Amino acid sequence: MERVEIIQLAYLGASVLFIMGLKGLTRPKTAVRGNQLGALGMLVAIAATLADQGVLDYKVIAGGIALGTVIGFLLATRVQMTKMPELVAMFNGLGGGASALVAAAEFYRQSGNPELAVEFTTATVASVLIGGVTLTGSLVAFGKLNGSLRDFRLPKHHIYNILVGLVVLGLAIWFCTAPETTWTFWTIAGVSLFFGIMLTVPIGGGDMPVVIALLNSMSGLAAAATGFVVGNTVLIIAGSLVGASGLILTAIMCKAMDRKLFDVLFGEFAPSGGGPDADEIYAGKIKSTSGDELAMVMESCRSVMFIPGYGMAVAQAQHAVRDLSNLLESRGVDVTFGIHPVAGRMPGHMNVLLAEADIDYDKLLDLDQSNAAIQQTDVAIVIGANDVVNPMAREPVGPISGMPIIDVDKATTVVVVKRSLSPGYAKIPNPLFAADNTLMFFGDAKKAMTEVTAAIKDL
Ligand code: TAP
Repeated sequence: MERVEIIQLAYLGASVLFIMGLKGLTRPKTAVRGNQLGALGMLVAIAATLADQGVLDYKVIAGGIALGTVIGFLLATRVQMTKMPELVAMFNGLGGGASALVAAAEFYRQSGNPELAVEFTTATVASVLIGGVTLTGSLVAFGKLNGSLRDFRLPKHHIYNILVGLVVLGLAIWFCTAPETTWTFWTIAGVSLFFGIMLTVPIGGGDMPVVIALLNSMSGLAAAATGFVVGNTVLIIAGSLVGASGLILTAIMCKAMDRKLFDVLFGEFAPSGGGPDADEIYAGKIKSTSGDELAMVMESCRSVMFIPGYGMAVAQAQHAVRDLSNLLESRGVDVTFGIHPVAGRMPGHMNVLLAEADIDYDKLLDLDQSNAAIQQTDVAIVIGANDVVNPMAREPVGPISGMPIIDVDKATTVVVVKRSLSPGYAKIPNPLFAADNTLMFFGDAKKAMTEVTAAIKDL
């Protein structure tokens, strides 16, 4: 067999491993194996690419691998679970940036060539445009997820976004038809970086998850375009897989949030002010409870739904929740978990945590199933969730306006477990806390769950 055939065969093998890896990632039980298959595929792809390029001096490459391994190892072992969403945002950004840099370097290398094929220029400009937007957009998302950046919008921001989008698109078409105008290429690179910031800085509240899924997809599309630039089959396939799965996730998020992608990116933003302030909503209406009181409430109930949110991830309370749910089930209570698609800070955040605590997947209800079951639920325990159960979403104006929520206020009794009355990600007060059927259990979610479990055992 010829060397080139062996390399193509290795690329094919790597691609099959990627697909098997993705399939494995669709179920909690096979996810670890799926991850390992994907990593093996990447190893095969890297080895085949090095052989393909006939690299003779491995010093720089070995240095890069060593540096990447050390950084990867430190991140994997040191990053707390609560910082994972930021890490994923950073990975997306760096992936997009790397793709753009490779394409730009290839263009720079070939820019003296008077006869650049239109396929090459199209792929190069696509990679730099998508990769540039992904890089800065993900850096902004990173800042927003860790709380260091706040939403910012100019008056008529959506009009500027449309204009910048049209400018960059026009430049891209110009460059593809006249690649000798190298200034257009470098201008596109600069404008793309600016465009990434413009698109993501104003987005907040319920729309952020859509943008994160989209950035994830774009990092894949940029890689696929770079695959065309450098003529690497496995990069095209791997990039397309990431791009396609990210697009499916974006569509799922849009559907879950009842939003159109164009409106999220280019739509006019609803004015966020004007609603009642926290004091107005909460004054004199908050009823707090204790572990002992809750134990008595739960002793006589027949059904409990846990609604987890970001606070459960912060407190790492999933194991304590599992212990309480097992105890309740052993006493004949019907236990379910209502999972909102954007609860937490990354897609599937709650599913991952609950799977880690070995909570049976069959007990997890999606948004529609939760809302269908909530009216027959005796006790809804909101554990570290806020925006995803905030009835303000039903108001016509506001940062989460129109976002579907889990209607916990329709359960017979609502218990909200959180440390204070402070708002969630969207920074708005929550009238649920002041509702007649709501009891607030103030404290860290893990401690609170452990306390209730102990109190029920003592009954
Ligand atoms: P949030 O609305 O962010 O509320 C989380 C609540 O957890 C806070 O109000 C906080 O209140 C409480 N909390 C924090 N630490 C706690 C602890 N140790 N023990 C108990 N409670 C604790 O969470 P959510 O309801 O899950 O909503 C998610 C929000 O994030 C949505 O607005 C969504 O759009 C946005 N978002 C989601 C994603 C994805 S993809 N899921 C990505 C970006 C943004 P205290 O401080 O009073 O305890």
